Amino acid sequence: MTDTAHIGVIGMAVMGQNLARNIASHGIPVAVYNRTSARTAEFVEAHGGDGPIVGTETIEELLAAVERPRRLLLMVKAGAGTDAVIAELSDRLDAGDIIIDGGNAHFADTRRRERELTSRGLRFLGTGISGGEEGALHGPSIMPGGRADAYEEVGEALETIAAQVDGTPCCTYLGPDGAGHYVKMVHNGIEYADMQLIAESYDVLRHGAGLSTDALADVFADWNAGDLESFLIEITADILGTADPRTGEPMVDMIVDEASQKGTGRWTAQLALELGVPSTAITEAVYARVVSSRNAQRHHAASVLRGPGPDGSIAADGLVDDVRAALYAAKIVAYAQGFEQLAAATAEYDWDLDLGSIATIWRGGCIIRAKFLDRIKQAYDRAPDLDNLLLDDYFRSRVAEGQDAWRRVVTTAVASGIAVPALSSALSYYDGVRRERLPANLIQAQRDYFGAHTYHRTDDAGAYHLRWTTDGSEESRD
Ligand code: 6PG
Repeated sequence: MTDTAHIGVIGMAVMGQNLARNIASHGIPVAVYNRTSARTAEFVEAHGGDGPIVGTETIEELLAAVERPRRLLLMVKAGAGTDAVIAELSDRLDAGDIIIDGGNAHFADTRRRERELTSRGLRFLGTGISGGEEGALHGPSIMPGGRADAYEEVGEALETIAAQVDGTPCCTYLGPDGAGHYVKMVHNGIEYADMQLIAESYDVLRHGAGLSTDALADVFADWNAGDLESFLIEITADILGTADPRTGEPMVDMIVDEASQKGTGRWTAQLALELGVPSTAITEAVYARVVSSRNAQRHHAASVLRGPGPDGSIAADGLVDDVRAALYAAKIVAYAQGFEQLAAATAEYDWDLDLGSIATIWRGGCIIRAKFLDRIKQAYDRAPDLDNLLLDDYFRSRVAEGQDAWRRVVTTAVASGIAVPALSSALSYYDGVRRERLPANLIQAQRDYFGAHTYHRTDDAGAYHLRWTTDGSEESRD
């Protein structure tokens, strides 16, 4: 069994197992290793028939089983676990061997690991993999970053196991060092925004207008047949139509309303702030999860903080169509912001990310896969240097068409006491970016008033300070 595997997979939790099965089912020989070897043995026993799979019990056995240069895919818990495995491996590897980290690593960790491994003559690919357990097995979206010469060695296998849309693999080399993990992080940030917008839409219709979960299952299924067609809308329809096996009640009503998070959405928001990019829909989605998780505080506040409802009495007439239009328009904003963040990151970190290619590899396999991504790809084909997706003709006209409905939904939700942070902040962003003149003139005046921070004039070049509280004269501060 020496040197026969094209690639090794380290970590046999469910994502590692499913990726190994996916690789083997394409006839690509794969060696697998897990710290607890009993799990490897069970895996080989259960799935050895999927294709050429070699189980190994020690790191040495694994390294002997993989052809040179070795390609090793790490599917371990992101964070300290990744560093521990890399440390264990790196002393035993040969120059030119390749470590592919397929976890949700922070891109700064990926940059550090890439530097350290490069200095030891090893090659590293920080690779985002999206699609959950099913995607890993049947075809995920794969976002590799790192050394281009390392990608040349593994690209064919990764592109083979990725989801395929219209014959195009949902995997392409994205850029150096942390580019792949950054793109995966923004994917997850957009995933948060998408999920929050869907949850708010459900809330307005369920608790604002009193629609039943069965009726809502039909509404979402219907939406999935149109422009909103996507994995997340599809599973939402399915979830809303599912009954609790214990009580027969709608399953969704039996689930505690506290949203968890593992960090990628929060990182996206933090890094957006650092770049000075207004990724407001993603950030609101992160905050909304935080608010939801304060369950005890909310239960107390519900009895003491007064509000109008919600009481299920919003007229349902026309509301379903309005919410569909609002959801679509707000989704356009969330994606526009995510892509703007990618554009800013590529400038900041010198990555040369191709935004159209990113839209292409998100069309299938990943959690945010959607018909909509084709539209984004087309927008970047029309104008590769597009500043903001909202300025593309298609998206511009769709938001223009949907905005009255969007405003009605936000107004109705606000009047009925339903929190719609993502729907409303996306609308405020839209209204902010389309205004020729914002009230920031007053902020500049205040800053100059209390701190002599200076302002620019609308009618003249240069920086100025006004002696607001003394003689009212203006001085040039160039
Ligand atoms: C994916 C998902 C995956 C994971 C999320 C969940 O692309 O397949 O994004 O990576 O399910 O990271 O994240 P939270 O636990 O933070 O919601």
